[in-house]
Amino acid sequence: MKLKKSVKKIIIIAVILLFLSLGIYSFIKIKAKMAYEKTYEYKLISLGYDENNAKEMEKIYKNEELEFILKQEKDNIYSNLTKEKYFIYNKFYDYINYYQKNKDKELTNIIEIVNANVDKEYYTNTTATDLTKGNLILVNKYHYLDENYVPEDLTTISLDYAYGEYGSQKMTKEAYEAFLNMWKASHDAGFYLIVNSSYRNYQEQQETYDDYARSNGTNYADTIAARPGFSEHQTGLTIDVFEKGTGQKDFDTTDSYKWLKENAHLYGFIERYPKDKENITGYTYESWHYRYVGVEAATYIYENHITFDEYYAYFVK
Ligand code: DAL
Ligand code: ZN
Repeated sequence: MKLKKSVKKIIIIAVILLFLSLGIYSFIKIKAKMAYEKTYEYKLISLGYDENNAKEMEKIYKNEELEFILKQEKDNIYSNLTKEKYFIYNKFYDYINYYQKNKDKELTNIIEIVNANVDKEYYTNTTATDLTKGNLILVNKYHYLDENYVPEDLTTISLDYAYGEYGSQKMTKEAYEAFLNMWKASHDAGFYLIVNSSYRNYQEQQETYDDYARSNGTNYADTIAARPGFSEHQTGLTIDVFEKGTGQKDFDTTDSYKWLKENAHLYGFIERYPKDKENITGYTYESWHYRYVGVEAATYIYENHITFDEYYAYFVK
Protein backbone atom coordinates (compact mmCIF):
# COMPACT_ATOMS: atom_id res chain seq x y z
CA MET A 1 0.00 0.00 0.00
CA LYS A 2 2.74 2.40 1.13
CA LEU A 3 4.78 1.61 -1.94
CA LYS A 4 1.82 2.22 -4.23
CA LYS A 5 1.26 5.65 -2.63
CA SER A 6 4.85 6.78 -3.12
CA VAL A 7 4.79 5.56 -6.76
CA LYS A 8 1.67 7.67 -7.27
CA LYS A 9 3.43 10.66 -5.71
CA ILE A 10 6.44 10.21 -7.95
CA ILE A 11 4.24 9.99 -11.03
CA ILE A 12 2.37 13.17 -10.05
CA ILE A 13 5.65 15.03 -9.45
CA ALA A 14 7.04 13.75 -12.76
CA VAL A 15 3.93 14.93 -14.62
CA ILE A 16 4.10 18.34 -12.94
CA LEU A 17 7.80 18.60 -13.81
CA LEU A 18 7.08 17.57 -17.39
CA PHE A 19 4.40 20.23 -17.79
CA LEU A 20 6.60 22.79 -16.12
CA SER A 21 9.51 22.00 -18.47
CA LEU A 22 7.20 22.09 -21.48
CA GLY A 23 5.88 25.46 -20.32
CA ILE A 24 9.38 26.88 -19.84
CA TYR A 25 10.49 25.43 -23.17
CA SER A 26 7.51 26.96 -25.01
CA PHE A 27 8.05 30.27 -23.27
CA ILE A 28 11.71 30.35 -24.35
CA LYS A 29 10.76 29.35 -27.89
CA ILE A 30 8.12 32.11 -28.15
CA LYS A 31 10.55 34.68 -26.73
CA ALA A 32 13.25 33.59 -29.22
CA LYS A 33 10.77 33.76 -32.11
CA MET A 34 9.68 37.23 -31.04
CA ALA A 35 13.32 38.33 -30.87
CA TYR A 36 14.09 36.81 -34.28
CA GLU A 37 11.10 38.57 -35.83
CA LYS A 38 12.65 41.85 -34.77
CA THR A 39 15.91 41.14 -36.67
CA TYR A 40 16.68 42.61 -40.07
CA GLU A 41 17.39 39.08 -41.31
CA TYR A 42 13.76 38.07 -40.62
CA LYS A 43 12.35 41.30 -42.08
CA LEU A 44 14.45 40.93 -45.22
CA ILE A 45 13.39 37.30 -45.64
CA SER A 46 9.76 38.38 -45.20
CA LEU A 47 10.30 40.86 -48.04
CA GLY A 48 11.43 38.04 -50.31
CA TYR A 49 15.21 37.90 -49.92
CA ASP A 50 16.70 34.46 -49.49
CA GLU A 51 18.30 33.56 -46.17
CA ASN A 52 21.92 33.81 -47.27
CA ASN A 53 21.47 37.21 -48.87
CA ALA A 54 19.50 38.47 -45.88
CA LYS A 55 22.28 37.32 -43.52
CA GLU A 56 24.94 38.94 -45.70
CA MET A 57 23.03 42.21 -45.94
CA GLU A 58 22.49 42.36 -42.21
CA LYS A 59 26.21 41.85 -41.73
CA ILE A 60 27.33 44.52 -44.20
CA TYR A 61 24.73 47.29 -44.00
CA LYS A 62 24.18 49.59 -41.04
CA ASN A 63 20.70 50.26 -39.63
CA GLU A 64 20.06 53.36 -41.76
CA GLU A 65 20.64 51.53 -45.04
CA LEU A 66 18.74 48.45 -43.84
CA GLU A 67 15.72 50.62 -42.93
CA PHE A 68 15.95 52.21 -46.38
CA ILE A 69 16.09 48.79 -48.08
CA LEU A 70 13.08 47.57 -46.09
CA LYS A 71 11.03 50.50 -47.37
CA GLN A 72 11.78 49.55 -51.01
CA GLU A 73 10.41 46.69 -53.04
CA LYS A 74 12.62 43.59 -53.06
CA ASP A 75 15.45 44.15 -55.52
CA ASN A 76 18.58 42.00 -55.80
CA ILE A 77 20.66 45.14 -56.38
CA TYR A 78 20.92 45.54 -52.60
CA SER A 79 22.43 42.12 -52.00
CA ASN A 80 24.43 42.09 -55.24
CA LEU A 81 26.03 45.45 -54.44
CA THR A 82 27.71 44.03 -51.37
CA LYS A 83 29.40 41.35 -53.46
CA GLU A 84 31.00 43.83 -55.87
CA LYS A 85 34.79 44.06 -55.57
CA TYR A 86 34.94 47.86 -55.55
CA PHE A 87 31.77 48.56 -53.57
CA ILE A 88 32.35 51.66 -51.42
CA TYR A 89 29.97 51.83 -48.51
CA ASN A 90 29.46 55.57 -48.35
CA LYS A 91 28.54 55.68 -52.03
CA PHE A 92 25.50 53.42 -51.41
CA TYR A 93 22.86 56.05 -52.22
CA ASP A 94 24.81 57.26 -55.28
CA TYR A 95 24.84 53.69 -56.65
CA ILE A 96 21.10 53.36 -56.03
CA ASN A 97 20.27 56.73 -57.60
CA TYR A 98 22.33 55.95 -60.66
CA TYR A 99 20.90 52.45 -60.92
CA GLN A 100 17.30 53.77 -60.79
CA LYS A 101 17.99 55.80 -63.94
CA ASN A 102 20.18 53.17 -65.65
CA LYS A 103 18.65 49.77 -64.97
CA ASP A 104 20.00 48.39 -68.25
CA LYS A 105 23.62 48.82 -67.13
CA GLU A 106 25.64 46.04 -65.53
CA LEU A 107 26.28 46.46 -61.84
CA THR A 108 30.07 46.41 -62.20
CA ASN A 109 29.76 49.22 -64.71
CA ILE A 110 27.51 51.19 -62.34
CA ILE A 111 30.10 50.78 -59.59
CA GLU A 112 33.00 52.01 -61.74
CA ILE A 113 31.00 54.97 -63.06
CA VAL A 114 29.90 56.09 -59.61
CA ASN A 115 33.32 55.50 -58.05
CA ALA A 116 34.87 57.71 -60.73
CA ASN A 117 32.13 60.35 -60.17
CA VAL A 118 30.93 60.04 -63.75
CA ASP A 119 27.33 59.76 -62.53
CA LYS A 120 27.66 63.53 -62.22
CA GLU A 121 28.09 65.89 -65.17
CA TYR A 122 31.71 66.68 -66.02
CA TYR A 123 33.01 69.79 -64.29
CA THR A 124 30.18 69.77 -61.75
CA ASN A 125 30.71 68.82 -58.09
CA THR A 126 34.34 69.84 -58.41
CA THR A 127 36.69 69.96 -55.43
CA ALA A 128 40.27 71.06 -54.88
CA THR A 129 42.37 67.91 -54.98
CA ASP A 130 44.03 66.68 -51.80
CA LEU A 131 47.69 67.60 -52.22
CA THR A 132 48.75 65.49 -49.26
CA LYS A 133 48.41 62.41 -51.47
CA GLY A 134 51.82 63.08 -53.08
CA ASN A 135 52.37 60.98 -56.18
CA LEU A 136 48.77 59.79 -55.90
CA ILE A 137 47.06 63.16 -56.23
CA LEU A 138 44.01 62.91 -58.43
CA VAL A 139 43.40 65.47 -61.13
CA ASN A 140 40.42 64.87 -63.37
CA LYS A 141 37.16 66.53 -64.39
CA TYR A 142 36.06 66.67 -60.75
CA HIS A 143 39.34 67.39 -58.95
CA TYR A 144 41.40 70.45 -59.71
CA LEU A 145 44.66 72.17 -58.85
CA ASP A 146 44.84 75.79 -57.79
CA GLU A 147 45.83 78.24 -60.53
CA ASN A 148 49.08 78.95 -58.68
CA TYR A 149 49.99 75.35 -57.92
CA VAL A 150 53.50 74.46 -59.01
CA PRO A 151 55.10 71.11 -58.00
CA GLU A 152 58.03 71.59 -55.61
CA ASP A 153 60.89 69.77 -57.26
CA LEU A 154 60.47 70.24 -60.99
CA THR A 155 63.50 68.90 -62.83
CA THR A 156 64.47 69.64 -66.40
CA ILE A 157 64.29 66.67 -68.76
CA SER A 158 67.46 66.22 -70.79
CA LEU A 159 67.04 66.85 -74.50
CA ASP A 160 68.31 63.29 -74.99
CA TYR A 161 64.79 62.26 -74.01
CA ALA A 162 62.61 65.23 -74.94
CA TYR A 163 61.66 67.49 -77.81
CA GLY A 164 61.75 71.28 -77.45
CA GLU A 165 64.23 73.75 -76.00
CA TYR A 166 66.36 72.90 -72.99
CA GLY A 167 64.39 73.84 -69.85
CA SER A 168 61.00 73.67 -71.51
CA GLN A 169 60.29 70.05 -70.47
CA LYS A 170 60.04 69.28 -66.78
CA MET A 171 58.86 66.59 -64.38
CA THR A 172 59.08 66.13 -60.63
CA LYS A 173 62.43 64.71 -59.55
CA GLU A 174 61.06 61.32 -58.49
CA ALA A 175 58.97 60.89 -61.66
CA TYR A 176 61.96 61.88 -63.80
CA GLU A 177 64.23 59.32 -62.11
CA ALA A 178 61.60 56.66 -62.69
CA PHE A 179 61.28 57.79 -66.29
CA LEU A 180 65.04 57.49 -66.82
CA ASN A 181 64.98 53.89 -65.58
CA MET A 182 62.07 53.15 -67.87
CA TRP A 183 63.78 54.88 -70.76
CA LYS A 184 66.93 52.75 -70.30
CA ALA A 185 64.92 49.53 -70.19
CA SER A 186 62.97 50.50 -73.31
CA HIS A 187 66.20 51.43 -75.06
CA ASP A 188 67.69 48.05 -74.17
CA ALA A 189 64.59 46.52 -75.73
CA GLY A 190 65.35 48.41 -78.95
CA PHE A 191 63.19 51.54 -78.65
CA TYR A 192 63.72 55.28 -78.34
CA LEU A 193 61.08 57.02 -76.25
CA ILE A 194 60.83 60.78 -76.55
CA VAL A 195 58.84 63.19 -74.40
CA ASN A 196 56.68 65.59 -76.35
CA SER A 197 54.96 67.36 -73.46
CA SER A 198 55.39 67.20 -69.70
CA TYR A 199 54.73 69.76 -66.95
CA ARG A 200 52.35 72.49 -68.16
CA ASN A 201 51.42 75.37 -65.90
CA TYR A 202 47.88 76.72 -65.63
CA GLN A 203 48.35 79.35 -68.33
CA GLU A 204 49.92 76.87 -70.75
CA GLN A 205 47.02 74.50 -70.20
CA GLN A 206 44.60 77.37 -70.80
CA GLU A 207 46.30 78.00 -74.16
CA THR A 208 46.23 74.29 -75.06
CA TYR A 209 42.52 74.02 -74.24
CA ASP A 210 41.62 77.31 -75.94
CA ASP A 211 43.39 76.26 -79.15
CA TYR A 212 41.20 73.16 -79.43
CA ALA A 213 38.06 75.02 -78.37
CA ARG A 214 38.67 77.79 -80.92
CA SER A 215 39.17 75.40 -83.83
CA ASN A 216 36.64 72.66 -82.94
CA GLY A 217 34.36 73.95 -80.18
CA THR A 218 34.31 73.25 -76.45
CA ASN A 219 32.51 69.88 -76.70
CA TYR A 220 35.34 68.52 -78.81
CA ALA A 221 38.03 70.24 -76.74
CA ASP A 222 36.65 68.62 -73.59
CA THR A 223 37.22 65.15 -75.00
CA ILE A 224 40.91 65.66 -75.67
CA ALA A 225 42.19 68.45 -73.46
CA ALA A 226 41.62 69.30 -69.83
CA ARG A 227 40.38 72.71 -68.80
CA PRO A 228 43.03 74.75 -66.95
CA GLY A 229 43.46 73.54 -63.38
CA PHE A 230 42.03 70.15 -64.31
CA SER A 231 45.06 68.81 -66.20
CA GLU A 232 47.40 66.18 -64.85
CA HIS A 233 50.15 67.93 -66.76
CA GLN A 234 50.12 70.59 -64.02
CA THR A 235 51.14 67.94 -61.47
CA GLY A 236 54.57 67.42 -63.02
CA LEU A 237 53.83 63.67 -62.84
CA THR A 238 52.70 63.31 -66.43
CA ILE A 239 54.36 62.98 -69.80
CA ASP A 240 53.17 62.66 -73.36
CA VAL A 241 55.68 60.20 -74.77
CA PHE A 242 56.10 58.22 -77.97
CA GLU A 243 58.68 56.65 -80.25
CA LYS A 244 61.20 59.14 -81.62
CA GLY A 245 60.59 59.87 -85.28
CA THR A 246 56.98 58.62 -85.30
CA GLY A 247 53.81 60.63 -84.79
CA GLN A 248 51.99 60.84 -81.49
CA LYS A 249 48.68 59.82 -83.05
CA ASP A 250 50.14 56.65 -84.60
CA PHE A 251 52.06 55.65 -81.50
CA ASP A 252 49.64 52.83 -80.67
CA THR A 253 50.51 51.03 -83.89
CA THR A 254 54.18 50.71 -82.86
CA ASP A 255 56.05 47.97 -80.99
CA SER A 256 57.38 50.71 -78.80
CA TYR A 257 53.83 51.37 -77.55
CA LYS A 258 53.30 47.65 -76.95
CA TRP A 259 56.45 47.58 -74.85
CA LEU A 260 55.44 50.67 -72.89
CA LYS A 261 51.90 49.45 -72.25
CA GLU A 262 53.20 46.15 -70.83
CA ASN A 263 56.17 47.50 -68.87
CA ALA A 264 55.40 51.05 -67.70
CA HIS A 265 53.97 49.84 -64.37
CA LEU A 266 57.34 48.30 -63.43
CA TYR A 267 58.64 51.88 -63.25
CA GLY A 268 55.54 53.38 -61.64
CA PHE A 269 53.80 54.71 -64.74
CA ILE A 270 50.30 54.01 -66.06
CA GLU A 271 48.58 54.54 -69.35
CA ARG A 272 46.13 57.09 -67.98
CA TYR A 273 43.45 57.25 -70.70
CA PRO A 274 43.08 53.73 -72.12
CA LYS A 275 41.04 52.85 -75.17
CA ASP A 276 38.28 50.92 -73.41
CA LYS A 277 37.88 53.32 -70.48
CA GLU A 278 36.78 56.50 -72.21
CA ASN A 279 33.43 56.51 -70.37
CA ILE A 280 35.31 56.49 -67.07
CA THR A 281 38.17 58.90 -67.73
CA GLY A 282 36.10 61.27 -69.85
CA TYR A 283 38.88 61.52 -72.43
CA THR A 284 39.44 60.04 -75.85
CA TYR A 285 42.04 57.30 -75.82
CA GLU A 286 45.57 58.72 -75.49
CA SER A 287 48.21 56.05 -76.12
CA TRP A 288 50.94 58.60 -75.35
CA HIS A 289 49.79 60.06 -72.02
CA TYR A 290 51.55 58.37 -69.07
CA ARG A 291 51.16 59.28 -65.43
CA TYR A 292 53.57 58.50 -62.61
CA VAL A 293 51.80 57.01 -59.56
CA GLY A 294 54.57 54.83 -58.09
CA VAL A 295 55.18 51.12 -58.63
CA GLU A 296 52.62 49.77 -56.16
CA ALA A 297 49.62 51.69 -57.54
CA ALA A 298 50.77 51.30 -61.15
CA THR A 299 51.12 47.54 -60.76
CA TYR A 300 47.67 47.19 -59.20
CA ILE A 301 46.07 49.36 -61.90
CA TYR A 302 47.84 47.41 -64.66
CA GLU A 303 47.04 43.98 -63.25
CA ASN A 304 43.42 44.74 -62.42
CA HIS A 305 42.68 46.74 -65.51
CA ILE A 306 41.12 49.71 -63.75
CA THR A 307 41.60 53.45 -64.12
CA PHE A 308 43.43 55.68 -61.69
CA ASP A 309 40.11 57.44 -60.98
CA GLU A 310 38.68 54.16 -59.63
CA TYR A 311 41.89 53.21 -57.84
CA TYR A 312 41.88 56.57 -56.07
CA ALA A 313 38.25 56.26 -54.94
CA TYR A 314 38.78 52.78 -53.53
CA PHE A 315 42.33 52.82 -52.16
CA VAL A 316 43.52 56.39 -51.73
CA LYS A 317 40.61 58.61 -50.71
N1 DAL B 1 45.17 65.69 -72.81
C1 DAL B 1 44.99 65.63 -71.40
C2 DAL B 1 43.63 65.12 -71.05
C3 DAL B 1 45.23 66.97 -70.75
O1 DAL B 1 45.00 67.99 -71.41
O2 DAL B 1 45.60 67.01 -69.60
ZN1 ZN C 1 49.00 64.35 -71.95
